[in-house]
Amino acid sequence: MTAVVRSVVTGAGGYLPPDVVTNAELALTVDTSDAWIVERTGIQSRRRAAPDQATSDLAVQAALMALDRAGRGVGDVDMIIVATTTPDLTFPATAAIVQRKLGAPIGIAFDVQAVCSGFVYAMSVADSFIVRGVSKCALVIGAETMTRLMDWSDRGTCVLFGDGAGAVVLEPSEGEGLTSDRGVLGFSLRADGAKQDLLYVDGGPSTTGTVGKLRMQGNQVFRHAVVNISEAVLAAARNAGVAPSEVDWFIPHQANQRILEGVAKRLGIDGGRVISTVSEHANTSAASIPLALSVAIEDGRIRPGQLLLFEAMGGGLTWGAVVVRL
Ligand code: ACO
Repeated sequence: MTAVVRSVVTGAGGYLPPDVVTNAELALTVDTSDAWIVERTGIQSRRRAAPDQATSDLAVQAALMALDRAGRGVGDVDMIIVATTTPDLTFPATAAIVQRKLGAPIGIAFDVQAVCSGFVYAMSVADSFIVRGVSKCALVIGAETMTRLMDWSDRGTCVLFGDGAGAVVLEPSEGEGLTSDRGVLGFSLRADGAKQDLLYVDGGPSTTGTVGKLRMQGNQVFRHAVVNISEAVLAAARNAGVAPSEVDWFIPHQANQRILEGVAKRLGIDGGRVISTVSEHANTSAASIPLALSVAIEDGRIRPGQLLLFEAMGGGLTWGAVVVRL
């Protein structure tokens, strides 16, 4: 047994903007149907941020809930990492805007851009800072206003995404170097920039000077998702020293119910251990995992001490997985 520092999730929170957009409403403006969307994706509705709500506003609400559940105050926070692909502004980082809006003290604040894998990447980055003693109380937030990136005439994408934010508080705690320790036990991260064309936004400050719209070859992304995610999950589990069969709760990025089920089946994870919020949240990109975590802690399914497995895939392509004991 070796004493090690672990990054422990001491609180989780989530926020969804109040405006619910149903499939039937989308079918009024684009050639689709509730039946098609539900059958192909499992999505029944999604939330849309109000015109005056920025990504940072969603992030602040989720962060306050996470801090409250952790029994921490804004004054304790020494690092804020926001995983987002829909920042308020090109700069400053949304994390710095969140710091200002929270009134958090001077500390570290930056964004992580790995699209839907952003939260998995951000958790891994935060873990490294905590293990090195750089941060004692970190906010790791996934926050998105994906509806702002939609081409509302493209039925292949506009039905899939929604807005929201989720956050966790990470704090150091001494572990024994065993898989029974609380905290981040292992992770694996991947990127394949050669597959950019499958999923990207067609604008940016140094190319078009515009924000751009999301473009996706959905069936190609789908094909890559199940195989690649499974490999990354197995690598993260190996890294953590656990087997997927030991995991209490599998919390995937919420892109498509068929992908969730396909990955779980491939890994031999029983469907009853998969947290799914895709029907009501749709794909909230980097926000989807912490939002699902927050929901399942609140409804009592996820309890302290349980072994959790997060996984995601997104634009880049990027993908990865994190193993955490709550
Ligand atoms: N309503 C009705 N028909 C539609 C819709 C719609 N909303 N969207 C597409 N179709 C049609 C297509 O036009 C096509 O019609 P055609 O055969 O006449 O050409 C037909 O449905 C089949 O299209 P596919 O794209 O092959 O359908 P598929 O079963 O693959 O489902 C979907 C599409 C839901 C997008 C699926 O491929 C998917 O979920 N892909 C993965 C998305 C994802 O996980 N993204 C990663 C994360 S996102 C991020 O990182 C930002």
